Amino acid sequence: MIHEVIVTCRSTQGENQIAPMGVVWRGEDVVIAPFRPSRTLDNILAGGCAVINYCDDVRVFAGCLTGRYDWPLVEAEHVAAPRLAAALAHCELRLQQVEEDPLRPRLVCKPLYEANHRPFRGFNRAQAAVLELAILVSRLERLPMEKIESEIAYLTIAIDKTAGEREREAWEWLMARVDDFRKRQSKEGAV
Ligand SMILES: Cc1cc2nc3c(=O)[nH]c(=O)nc-3n(C[C@H](O)[C@H](O)[C@H](O)COP(=O)(O)O)c2cc1C
Repeated sequence: MIHEVIVTCRSTQGENQIAPMGVVWRGEDVVIAPFRPSRTLDNILAGGCAVINYCDDVRVFAGCLTGRYDWPLVEAEHVAAPRLAAALAHCELRLQQVEEDPLRPRLVCKPLYEANHRPFRGFNRAQAAVLELAILVSRLERLPMEKIESEIAYLTIAIDKTAGEREREAWEWLMARVDDFRKRQSKEGAV
């Protein structure tokens, strides 16, 4: 089972890093699997710690994919890393073991401290739709355009029926990326 979270960490130079990642729980441990090359990977290897943020503000996911990284951060309690101010809850991790892989190493981490900040108010279909569109946007170059269009048509139903303002804004940021891609494709097709 994969949980989509926001991983926050810090470089040895003190630069904060925010990235959406899918994490897997392995017993008591959490496994983060960044593709190389990755600042998240470099930071966790160098600093030995990270934070996973459980966040229902899907603008953070869509924002990180569209160049919007300026999300308010708060210092973590027990590790040298920030956490998202908007997180519903967060978990601070210590790197325990690295399973090497040329493409995608596995960072096995031990939870040190967990805190709740806001209640989880239930599942929202538009939030799930934004996450799905984020995944599509990260694979625009690799997927057939018909698949992208048909998935967007389906996901739009959940947006129209169930989105709030945050979900609509996140959706628009991602759709702007899809529109740019469509324009580039039709230009290339015309040459
Ligand atoms: C929902 C979602 C899940 C993602 N999961 C991963 C992941 O597990 N591993 C990964 O390397 N990138 C994942 N990505 C893409 C990264 O967030 C993105 O490539 C980011 O720029 C990596 O930044 P970095 O240089 O800090 O590692 C995911 C993106 C989204 C939207």
